Amino acid sequence: MQNSMNKTNEEPIEIAPNIFFIGVFDPNIRTFDIIMKTANGSSYNAYLIKTNEGVVILDGVKLEFQDIFFQKVEKLCTYNEIKYVISHHLEPDHAGSIPELIKRAPQAKVLISPQATAMLKAITHNENIDFETVWTNKSLKMGDKTIKFLTTPYLHWPETMSSYVQENKLLFSGDVFGSHYHDRRLFNDLVGDFHYSFKYYYDHIMRPFKSYVLNAITLYDKLEIDLIATLHGPILRDNPKKYIDYYRKWSQNSYKLSSNGKKTLSIFYLTSYKNTQDMAEAIYEGAESVDGIIANVYDLASIEESNMINILEDSDGILIGSPTINADAPKPVWELLSCMMLLEKKGKLGSAFGSYGWSGEAVDMIIHRLKSLNFRVPPIENIKIKLIPTEEELQDCYDFGVEFSHILNGKIIEMTMN
Ligand SMILES: Cc1cc2nc3c(=O)[nH]c(=O)nc-3n(C[C@H](O)[C@H](O)[C@H](O)COP(=O)(O)O)c2cc1C
Ligand SMILES: [Fe+2]
Ligand SMILES: [Fe+2]
Repeated sequence: MQNSMNKTNEEPIEIAPNIFFIGVFDPNIRTFDIIMKTANGSSYNAYLIKTNEGVVILDGVKLEFQDIFFQKVEKLCTYNEIKYVISHHLEPDHAGSIPELIKRAPQAKVLISPQATAMLKAITHNENIDFETVWTNKSLKMGDKTIKFLTTPYLHWPETMSSYVQENKLLFSGDVFGSHYHDRRLFNDLVGDFHYSFKYYYDHIMRPFKSYVLNAITLYDKLEIDLIATLHGPILRDNPKKYIDYYRKWSQNSYKLSSNGKKTLSIFYLTSYKNTQDMAEAIYEGAESVDGIIANVYDLASIEESNMINILEDSDGILIGSPTINADAPKPVWELLSCMMLLEKKGKLGSAFGSYGWSGEAVDMIIHRLKSLNFRVPPIENIKIKLIPTEEELQDCYDFGVEFSHILNGKIIEMTMN
């Protein structure tokens, strides 16, 4: 059977006057960037603008699909008509075809963000590319089109940017507002219901950069937008503002239903013989005795990953309790910590505690990991207890909960660097 992925007779699609979709569809991809499942594939969206002063290409596609991309380019122009290549994002799903494009159109100037300079060299291995860096308030006038650049870093790489065609009120957003959702009908008012995919994409790609999403939205809010041309999935022409508002809501909102302005401390533990659990409960009692703190205790043996992520996101501080098993912390502890990959880590306070039998490595390993994840780990003595905690040791746990909570409340202590 002929694989639809190999279709070569696809035509460019005009999405606004003289602005064309020249991207490619990848219905067979099932995992994206290791961390995302893509149940019905995706697309790598690229665009071409034709003017009477020449052609602008916006982004490219994955290397393995570049033949289809170039066939589409050739249906619209000759390579020597290409004056500019705008690259909003240099991840290989969009930049894979850039080196070959530069070879075919060596006169074209590549426009990138300043942060992309070193990356462009690292993906092309070509020191002689004619490129220029652009940022907010810079623009490019070509024939009847004015393209304004917007600096939107960390969505989701440091070099990402967006651009806006003034005459058509068209935002080229980059990866922002994308979906890994393959549907050749292309426009949001024609494709199937891709809501799940739009949210899933946000959760996995943009959620760790929430504050950058909000910064970008302040730029987008200044524009009148009729159409958002994303780098993946449907182009948003029906009510594009709705999608910006979703991102705004998800990025502003914590999932907290109520915290009464108090700081949230989440205490996670694992236990085999209840020793670490008893410690967790004593720490909880100590924390709860401090005004302005809401503490909760969670058994890591019985928690769903999605709940873990939401709890972590809403926690101002976290404490992780683990016994040492075979000179390590057991897997659920590392699973908890690996969820941090999907979250913004700024400013969270963390530490660890646990019971052990003889060597007690787990607590130090967790603390080391928390520091590498940029948690603030206060230099109060962490709590390791040999086997069954005594009453006195449980009192130490209580005191630890009190002290950690005071620090969470803003008590000034000297923080040492890693
Ligand atoms: C399979 C197994 C392996 C263990 N390995 C270690 C170890 O490498 N180092 C250590 O200090 N304690 C080790 N321990 C001892 C536990 O850390 C200790 O029993 C602890 O009190 C258990 O706390 P819990 O009741 O919270 O699970 C091991 C215990 C078990 C059951
Ligand atoms: Fe990307
Ligand atoms: Fe992408």
